[in-house]
Amino acid sequence: MPNEPPRLLERFRPMFSLLALTTIASLVSLSSQRPGVLDEITMLETSNSTLLRYPTDFTQNIVPKSIHSHNDYWRDVPLLTALSLGVASVEADVWLVNQTLFIGHEMAALTPARTFNSLYVEPLVSIIEGQNPKSQFTVNQTSVNGVFDTASSIPLQLLVDMKTDGPSTLPFVVSALQPLRERGFLTTCESNGTCTLGAVTVVGTGNTPLAGIQALSPRDVFFDAPLTALNATFDNTISPLASTDYEVAVGWSGIGSINQTQLSAIQQFVADAHGLGIKARFWDTPGWPIHARNNVWQTLIDEGADWLNADDLDAAATMF
Ligand SMILES: *[C@@H]1O[C@H](CO)[C@@H](O)[C@H](O)[C@H]1NC(C)=O
Ligand SMILES: *[C@@H]1O[C@H](CO)[C@@H](O)[C@H](O)[C@H]1NC(C)=O
Ligand SMILES: *[C@@H]1O[C@H](CO)[C@@H](O)[C@H](O)[C@H]1NC(C)=O
Ligand SMILES: *[C@@H]1O[C@H](CO)[C@@H](O)[C@H](O)[C@H]1NC(C)=O
Ligand SMILES: *[C@@H]1O[C@H](CO)[C@@H](O)[C@H](O)[C@H]1NC(C)=O
Ligand SMILES: *[C@@H]1O[C@H](CO)[C@@H](O)[C@H](O)[C@H]1NC(C)=O
Repeated sequence: MPNEPPRLLERFRPMFSLLALTTIASLVSLSSQRPGVLDEITMLETSNSTLLRYPTDFTQNIVPKSIHSHNDYWRDVPLLTALSLGVASVEADVWLVNQTLFIGHEMAALTPARTFNSLYVEPLVSIIEGQNPKSQFTVNQTSVNGVFDTASSIPLQLLVDMKTDGPSTLPFVVSALQPLRERGFLTTCESNGTCTLGAVTVVGTGNTPLAGIQALSPRDVFFDAPLTALNATFDNTISPLASTDYEVAVGWSGIGSINQTQLSAIQQFVADAHGLGIKARFWDTPGWPIHARNNVWQTLIDEGADWLNADDLDAAATMF
């Protein structure tokens, strides 16, 4: 993992004012020879002092990036690997079997333990509760902190790719999100169009039925719109995100120069989405060779695409 564990000095720099140092020093028993600052740090690190426990440090020093973790559930540790790299969008493929939502790329890959609940909903409840401690200092806070300490107002985008029949699966997804909903953690749009950003923005894709999403009121599951076929049906209260297959919509391999037709296609689709307040994502971008993959990613970033779709998160993180 490229992120070093946060260094104590960096984490607690604001505390090292003269006053704080004096307070801290009084906590450790001083030997006859007055210790230097490094000695004090060593002593403090072993003291387990409550002063050294920053309450919301789950993702300390991790800067969120506009990267979408394609097939996130394939990673060693779903969700957390992406968060550790600052990846602000993850994808879960869900299958409705026996009234339970299982996670996997295909039916053969499902196991009883790997459910939408166990891999995504429960961990998110626990992470976001940790980021929102209740105390006398937060009683008046109306907004919810997101998963990223460095940018607490940036929601995590959770793309739910419905693999089974859309109209049957959607109600189970809506219901599975209740632990996040009842804590006020979900981005929500009221029927009058007023939207509140939450810690998690859920967007349905795959077989997600547009009519089912349109019927939700208030709405806290949104619809991944077709980027190449946007029309007045879509706005950001229905679709904060629009996506398309890059191979079909653009097609440039990343080797040699992009031609004018291909460049115009990217520009047109990005402009269509942005005109409706919707963010643009191109999936199925080339993965190989590496320089071609990076050329395509860089061109998409330069032309205003909002999300880099990535299998290799470490590599995508280096683009920012
Ligand atoms: C440090 O303190 C916490 C909270 O009081 C406690 O749970 C933990 O076991 C302590 N760790 C050590 C190494 O003493
Ligand atoms: C679904 O439920 C039936 C009846 O309880 C059971 O026989 C079957 O193994 C279950 N299937 C899965 C995938 O859990
Ligand atoms: C919260 O609001 C109340 C009422 O306005 C005020 O008295 C109190 O000081 C506030 N608390 C904090 C931590 O800002
Ligand atoms: C929209 O509806 C919500 C919830 O009923 C309400 O709090 C808000 O004031 C309304 N906004 C407008 C602009 O009517
Ligand atoms: C807009 O696109 C949606 C989804 O493809 C389609 O259902 C709808 O009929 C279209 N509306 C218009 C006015 O073309
Ligand atoms: C750009 O490349 C595509 C795919 O090779 C081709 O179909 C198109 O005609 C080219 N456009 C221009 C302007 O060269």
